[in-house]
Formats: sequence, C-alpha cells, structure tokens
Amino acid sequence: MINQNNPIFKPMKEITPDNLNAAQFIAEKTRVIKAAVGEGVAINALSGGVDSSVVTMLGHKALGKQLRTVFIENGLMREGEAGRVQELFHSLGVEVEVVDARREFFAALRGINDPEEKREAITRTFYREVFGRIVRESKASFLLQGTILTDIDETVAGIKRQHNVFEQLGIDPQEAFGYRILEPLIQLRKEGVRKVGAAVGLPAELFTRIPFPGPALAARVIGEVTPERIETVRQATVIVEKLLKNSGAFQYLAILHLDRVTGMRDGKRDFGLQIEVRCWDSRDARQATPTALPFELLRQLGDEITATVPGVVSVTYNIASKPPSTIEAI
Ligand code: XMP
Repeated sequence: MINQNNPIFKPMKEITPDNLNAAQFIAEKTRVIKAAVGEGVAINALSGGVDSSVVTMLGHKALGKQLRTVFIENGLMREGEAGRVQELFHSLGVEVEVVDARREFFAALRGINDPEEKREAITRTFYREVFGRIVRESKASFLLQGTILTDIDETVAGIKRQHNVFEQLGIDPQEAFGYRILEPLIQLRKEGVRKVGAAVGLPAELFTRIPFPGPALAARVIGEVTPERIETVRQATVIVEKLLKNSGAFQYLAILHLDRVTGMRDGKRDFGLQIEVRCWDSRDARQATPTALPFELLRQLGDEITATVPGVVSVTYNIASKPPSTIEAI
C-alpha cells in the first residue's frame, strides 16, 4: 500500500509520553505553524475529538485571527455535537463556524457497503468536495489537522485507510486538493496528545474525552450508511456513553449490525435490529482488550437500548481482543 520510494514519504519519529515536555512541544509547534503560514490564512476542521481540539488550540495560539476553524456537520456526528463544540470553544475564545454538508456526505455514501470504499467516499467528500470548496473560498493555503501516529501505523500497514493520511501513501495534498497540510501531532499517540491538551488550556472534559474516529458514526454502521441507520447508532451511542462514562475504559461504542434477528414486541414477532456494544481497555489503541464490565451494567445497557432505540431487539457485548479485532467496526 505504501510507496516508500516516493520522495515525500517520511518515517515519523515517535515522542513517547515519558519523553514529552508539553510546554516545549507547544512552543515549538506554534513556532512551526506561524513560520509556515506567515501572514496567510489557515483553516482547521474541528470535530470535537481530542486530536482536532488540541490542534485548534495550537493553531489559535500560533495564528489568532489568521486561523479559521470550521465544524463540518457531515450528519455522522454524535448527538448535539455541533452546538456543544461551538459553545465550548467560544468559552475558550475560539469562534467555530458550522458548515452543513449532510447532503453531500449521505449522497457520497449511498449504496456503499464495503468498509474501505466507505472510508474512501468520506475522505473524498471531506477533503476534495467540502474542504476544497471552503479553502478556495477563504483563500487559505494551509489545512491544520490532528493526524496522530496511530492513524499512520494502521494505514501504512494496510489495516485501515484512516481518513486523514495522505503523504505516507504517496499522495501530495497540494496536487490532489490544492492546499498544504500541517500535522503538528504526528509524532504523538493519544496519551501524549492528552498531555499537550491539558498544557494548552483545554478543559479536562475535552482532553479526557474518549477517542472518536474521523469517519465518525459511519465507522460503526455495518453495511450501507443512511440517515436512518446513523440515527439508530447515534441513539445507542448516547446510552452507551452515558452508562459507561465512569467505567474508566479507554473507549466505548455502539455498532449497528447488518443482520436482523427475530425478536418480539407487544406479543408480536419483530424481525429487528442488533446493536453490539464494545468497551475497550487500552493504552494507545494499538492493542486492546474488552473491559470486564459488571454483568448488572451490561444488563442495564441491554434494557435501555432495546427500550429506547426504535427497532432494536438484540444487544451483544464484544469479548474479542485487538488483535485480531479492531476497535471500530469498519
Ligand atoms: P481501530 O478501529 O483501527 O482504531 O482499532 C484505532 C483507534 O483510532 C481511532 N480512530 C480511527 N479509527 N478510522 C478508524 O477506524 C479513523 O479514521 C480513525 N480515526 C481515529 C479509533 O476510534 C480508535 O481509538
């Protein structure tokens, strides 16, 4: 998959959490961002996840008003996310513009079942269509993004094409999309990003947030991604995140399966939907094991999901480790 002979391929040197001096890292990265952008304009896409939140703060520190921060409403985000992110960053002095691109994303995903094709459709829609347009309109020459080392590892290994990895695949963003990409977090993994997040002034509710994938809830829908199927997984996610908030786990999520199973509701047969809950213990997402959740909590998850998410008649808990599993479903 990777073309190591391509001149733009650069192996990344990891900065481990123990070797990370967050204050020094922030000073160095803000200097690099400012030097690259100069008096120009840069854009960054804030999803509300840990990585893009840290990049937003670094970019804001380096560039102030020369940075335009947008939240792309792709229709695949968690419940209430756009408003929550806008409000929180407003309180930190960063104005976030919400761009509604729901129709474009769902149109691009229509009829696609294959996981890698879904990722490709999301990448293309995000970088070429939606972002390409925003960048052209704003005359920005740089996109700041929160790619981390784990994203690169899995893409390079050919496991999953992470939505935000280009140069390591021999793709020159300037040629492909018309702008350059700056990736200040590329030498870090999640733990390091959180350390920088704390030092750069993010509130704990943001930098301790569980990881959330770039393809958003589309990474958790097996089979075709439609507004209805996303809504099912979104509602299940609200319950999973509420009930597992204090589990201390690295990450927890709900997945919508493609298969239906026979259930019963109000005394009648209901050939209904299946939700799988995953909850992971992990340090850096490279390896992970299922959290030993108390059975009572599992039962509560099953009861609440089947009672409140329309059409769901079955809830399962994943007990396989990564590898050979992966954290997300697609
Ligand atoms: P996987 O599923 O590959 O996820 O074990 C590893 C970690 O990366 C997060 N993450 C992503 N996962 N596509 C993914 O499949 C992405 O674009 C992406 N971005 C982040 C994932 O949530 C898990 O923490």
